[in-house]
Amino acid sequence: MSKKDQSDKPSESKVNPLMEKIVSLAKRRGFIFQSSEIYGGINSIYDYGPLGVELKNNVKKEWWKAMVQMRNNVEGLDSGILMHPKIWEASGHLAGFTDPLVDCKKCKRRFRADHLLEAKGLKPDFRPASFSEEGIDCPECGGELTNVRDFNLMFKTFMGALEESSAEIYLRPETAQGIYVNFPNVLNSSRQKLPFGIAQIGKAFRNEITPGNFTFRMREFEQMEMQFFVNPKEADKWFEYWQEQRLNWYLDLGVNKDKLKFRKHASDELAHYAKAAMDVEYDFPFDQRELEGIHNRGEWDLSRHQKFSGKDLQYQDQENKEKFTPYIIETSGGVDRCTLMFLLNAYTEVDTRSGDEDAKHETEVVLKLDKRLAPIKVAILPLSKKLEKDAMPLYEEIRKSYMCQYDDAGSIGKRYRRQDEIGTPYCVTFDFDSVEDKKVTVRDRDTMAQERIAISELKDYLTEKFC
Ligand code: GAP
Repeated sequence: MSKKDQSDKPSESKVNPLMEKIVSLAKRRGFIFQSSEIYGGINSIYDYGPLGVELKNNVKKEWWKAMVQMRNNVEGLDSGILMHPKIWEASGHLAGFTDPLVDCKKCKRRFRADHLLEAKGLKPDFRPASFSEEGIDCPECGGELTNVRDFNLMFKTFMGALEESSAEIYLRPETAQGIYVNFPNVLNSSRQKLPFGIAQIGKAFRNEITPGNFTFRMREFEQMEMQFFVNPKEADKWFEYWQEQRLNWYLDLGVNKDKLKFRKHASDELAHYAKAAMDVEYDFPFDQRELEGIHNRGEWDLSRHQKFSGKDLQYQDQENKEKFTPYIIETSGGVDRCTLMFLLNAYTEVDTRSGDEDAKHETEVVLKLDKRLAPIKVAILPLSKKLEKDAMPLYEEIRKSYMCQYDDAGSIGKRYRRQDEIGTPYCVTFDFDSVEDKKVTVRDRDTMAQERIAISELKDYLTEKFC
């Protein structure tokens, strides 16, 4: 986590027009909802609706395919959210995963001390005896601020029947630690040799002080992380390799190249575990921000777990008889942040006047998602409700292979627009001729080109399009 990622610049509180459109589309079409909405909502927790869960699953599926399925040297894992509390002592999270906070004594609002100090041109880690003496008061009401206290971002709970300190455990703030502590298990059961990686997708929890920008920064979110164990001598090479691989993954899925950037962390910005870090940043509407971090974590993790567990986590190289603590190169991305980015990247407004300047100005929204990510792959649209008997068997057949919608309500133009707005790559129109000639019209979302295809060939046609 870079400090930049944590910043709560004033721009966050202003509503951005594109973000507003995405939030509205997400709710209207069932991608993302505010959690617990009927109770007034709960801050920075979101639920994925019928289309959102498909999109998010597809993001995870593509990541898993690229990081595990297509590689001989990366294994998958699904570890527990709750783990032995000593893990967080060893990882440094108990002592170091904190934000410096101050409270306003008058209005009781809470602020990040480092941000208030930075805004005054002071060093973010400066600890003034009194904020008033530095001329810093509550930015909201001008009230007096308390002294700084370190606030741990981990959510704490209790395991078992007793709510006492010996029963305290934490919801994991990153999936990575579940991988490190399983390093010997995976090594011994998978017949892997160094270099090799372990990948995991799962929930993480952080009691963020300044959540915001919709699903960009949440308190409950999902991560997709891969930890690559290497000989220390080869760490720099693999650090470079994984930067390239991760950038290519985004480009292959259609992310606008001009909006993606690498940003190297300055030495005073590095997380406690990192020797070097590179962020893949995306030009979000509110700012250019971290999408994913690629870190050289050195031997920090395994050496710490070795020390705290008392277990030997070194690697014995059978060929040159070398024994060493592997270095770890990590790729760490957020599923929700990535899903939001794909929505923003795909959002396109098209002027539907098509050259007729006198026509009523109307904009249509097309979600130009890569086909692999689109929540609904195919829509079956019978021209009339009367065609249900003939069109329904086609729908039943296609849905065996693809997420598919059947829609016979409203004009065909309206139905196309509905599908464009959710990013459906292919609409299949079943008309009155289809009953006789056994053909349907397939419309391409992006080119709007229409092709007449024999029903018997539709499956092969779609296989070719989606392969
Ligand atoms: N294991 C290293 C690690 O967790 P991080 O930079 O703190 O590094 C990695 O987090 C990624 O997880 C970020 O790049 C971001 O995509 C995602 N992430 C982190 N905190 C998040 C939050 N509060 N809400 C949504 N996504 C978050």
